[in-house]
Amino acid sequence: MAKIKTFFQCQACGYVSPKWLGKCPDCGEWNTLVEEKKESRQGRRPSGRSEPQPLNTITSGKEKRTSTGIKELDRVLGGGVVAGSVILVGGDPGIGKSTVLMQAMSGLSKKYESALYVSGEESPEQIKMRAERLSVDSDRIILLAETSLEGIIDTASKLQPGVIVVDSIQTMYTEEIFSAPGSVGQVRECAARLMLFAKKSEIPVFIVGHVTKEGTIAGPRVLEHIVDTVLYFEGDRGHPYRILRTVKNRFGSTNEIGVFEMTDAGLSEIENPSELFLSERPLNVSGSTVIASIEGTRPLMVEIQALVSPTTFGMPRRTSIGVDFNRVNLLTAVLEKNAGLHLGGMDIFINVVGGLKIIEPAIDLGVVTTIASSLREIPIDPKVFMFGEVGLSGEIRAVAYAEQRIKEAAKIGFKKAVMSMTNHGRLKESFGLEIIGVKDVEDALEAIGIR
Ligand code: TYD
Ligand code: MG
Repeated sequence: MAKIKTFFQCQACGYVSPKWLGKCPDCGEWNTLVEEKKESRQGRRPSGRSEPQPLNTITSGKEKRTSTGIKELDRVLGGGVVAGSVILVGGDPGIGKSTVLMQAMSGLSKKYESALYVSGEESPEQIKMRAERLSVDSDRIILLAETSLEGIIDTASKLQPGVIVVDSIQTMYTEEIFSAPGSVGQVRECAARLMLFAKKSEIPVFIVGHVTKEGTIAGPRVLEHIVDTVLYFEGDRGHPYRILRTVKNRFGSTNEIGVFEMTDAGLSEIENPSELFLSERPLNVSGSTVIASIEGTRPLMVEIQALVSPTTFGMPRRTSIGVDFNRVNLLTAVLEKNAGLHLGGMDIFINVVGGLKIIEPAIDLGVVTTIASSLREIPIDPKVFMFGEVGLSGEIRAVAYAEQRIKEAAKIGFKKAVMSMTNHGRLKESFGLEIIGVKDVEDALEAIGIR
């Protein structure tokens, strides 16, 4: 009898090794290599040959898009679902992936003859219970409790639905591979087969993928390069807000966000997140600054808070939530050196309100001013907002999309903007606001009355 050949595959990154290793040499994770049998390659012949064509003879044709009925979801998809595209929706368990997709099914089933919801996690009764909560009811939404990929593709080929949801990819398996559902091999193969099916049939497919910190379940990370669009659900359990972020999109821009609130009746869209994130802002207290941030193409006004107080231990504590910790340390050093603030013996806590994470450097100016405001106990005028990158010598640098940021702020009633000289110089109009260009951190503190 022929010996069964096996290999070892890292469940975190997909690295393949002929022998077992404790640590994956590729991604550095420990204890993630799992033995898998060599897969059979039968039935995987290319399904059709295509002829080479000159570029100028090809007619592009605009991609067909269908609205999901959820504006925030359409936005992150780049304006609706593209026919034949595969969309991966990733996120922690319990964040709301199944919920948002059931709501999207409801919208899409109005546009198509039928919509197929395949679940490998819940029974049709459980899905029905969720649908009732969401007030979704339709004879066009077809539920299928199935974990075999061959079964799903069979049903889908017969039914020819307008859209398919596969919840979740970790529970699916194909008979062509011997390893267990959820392993890298299975997850990758199932996704690749769904991709082939979507392209051939022009049916869009949503794939749900759980992200877990432990390497035991293959993360959707290994799928990112297979699918067309990758959306990640963010947000923490303590807050009702959920952010759907585009990480990759072959049919639209990345870094777009959609903002939702989890309610008793499912996810509701938040059309004006700036107002929401500022709604509970305490006025006229020190250590609170509003910055105008841009997420994708969407301006977002966010409050950054700082608490600076003398340390009670020998080592001052520095904590930041929502801003990169190293960035805060760096900005603290800039404040010490260039603005002469004594922060050496101070604990510094920074928080971006609403559970948001801001990664763009335009937040820098907000961080330095809020720290200074808390240290000096001088409140910043609530009608002032700012944006700008801070360089290591304390200079304030220009950031992109200044006009969009100012427009958003003007819309919700801000009166005064602080930004870099360069941004100020390039502005064509002032949108009815008082605009102040500043050259360095000292200048900026002066402009908002902290000295
Ligand atoms: P779910 O969509 O099942 O999460 P996922 O598919 O990402 O694992 O959402 C689960 C959570 O959402 C659960 O904790 C309950 C909560 N929830 C609500 O608060 N309101 C609702 O209307 C629904 C359907 C769920
Ligand atoms: Mg789910």
